[in-house]
Amino acid sequence: MNAFDRRMLRRAIALARRGEGLTRPNPPVGAVVARDGRILATGFHRVAGGLHAEAAALAALPEGAARGADLYVSLEPCSTHGRQPPCVEAILRAGIRRVAMGARDPNPRNAGGGIAALRAAGVAVEEADGAEKDAARELLRPFASFWRRGRPWVRLKLALSLDGRIAAADGTSRWITGPAARKDVQAWRRASDAILVGAGTVRADDPSLLPRPARGRQPWRVVLQRKHPLPGNAKVFTDAARERTLAMDGGDLLRVLRTLAEKHGVLSVLCEGGGETAGALLAAGLVDELLLFYAPKWLGGPRGATGSAFFSLAEAEAQGFGWAGRPKRFGDDWRMRLVRKESARETDGTD
Ligand SMILES: NC(=O)c1ccc[n+]([C@@H]2O[C@H](COP(=O)([O-])OP(=O)(O)OC[C@H]3O[C@@H](n4cnc5c(N)ncnc54)[C@H](OP(=O)(O)O)[C@@H]3O)[C@@H](O)[C@H]2O)c1
Repeated sequence: MNAFDRRMLRRAIALARRGEGLTRPNPPVGAVVARDGRILATGFHRVAGGLHAEAAALAALPEGAARGADLYVSLEPCSTHGRQPPCVEAILRAGIRRVAMGARDPNPRNAGGGIAALRAAGVAVEEADGAEKDAARELLRPFASFWRRGRPWVRLKLALSLDGRIAAADGTSRWITGPAARKDVQAWRRASDAILVGAGTVRADDPSLLPRPARGRQPWRVVLQRKHPLPGNAKVFTDAARERTLAMDGGDLLRVLRTLAEKHGVLSVLCEGGGETAGALLAAGLVDELLLFYAPKWLGGPRGATGSAFFSLAEAEAQGFGWAGRPKRFGDDWRMRLVRKESARETDGTD
């Protein structure tokens, strides 16, 4: 692949990101049609049941205009009938000469099928390597988690003081971080199919947990409880989006996650605390990605960010988190992003 091909693949991945949080249980996908170094059309998957990215890009062109062109797509084109006809057929009908794709389809129904069907029909297929392959796989992790592990990809977001506290000793926690960091959290909410918190956070903060602005997103809100009654007058149970709130028993966290995938098509979960829930998820090895926002404040106090959960050094080592990208500054706060290496291995596959 030359530099233009790589640029177009990155463009397709950026387009796909515009559909994140909208497409469940489908993956977000983006596509670009180009010829002679010029973009002819772009498209992305906007909603499950709607046009796939390739079909959306091709549909934007007049009949015959894509003949002999290249198609760049973040995910292997599908070869089977779902709610939409297979994209491979649309690609062949349009006379596309070559397909450059980001990542293979982790759905076993489709895996490798699109590549084989295109090649059999004489279309050249190239798979991304290097940074573009990594970016395409990273985009696809929630969908790959859904298919390969039967549960959503779990991100744990925490707003932390310098000494790793999520609330002051007097119980107050709004707002540890500033507006720029909170704006970034809203983008992560929009990219997630479900926002999860423990009952303690609902009791203490009465958060709405809705993305603002929503931009068409309607994530599930999940409140985990075990022993005590939930406050029925809390926002999540009374506001206009209350049908999208699920109260679930947090006793078996893996079961909660599997249920969210199976019954509600959830590919990605953003856990927003609090401490007990964060600690329980970590202890169960169910946190795939950490989003830690550090504010330049020292709070002190007896309890760490993960409530009553604590780990030995050997256990902390075994968690296997690795830095993902560089720390990023939002106003006065810094965001650190980490991914559990085993989660990446499980979802990225070996192809
Ligand atoms: N800085 C931040 O990013 C941030 C984010 C969120 C919250 N907070 C702060 O954190 C504090 C609340 O923390 P918290 O630890 O009390 O709240 P939490 O984790 O939100 O809630 C704890 C409750 O969750 C329920 N739960 C269900 N399944 C569980 C499981 N497997 N393990 C543990 N708990 C489970 C239990 O409810 P039952 O009582 O029904 O058994 C438990 O009492 C508040 O001060 C809040 O402001 C800070």
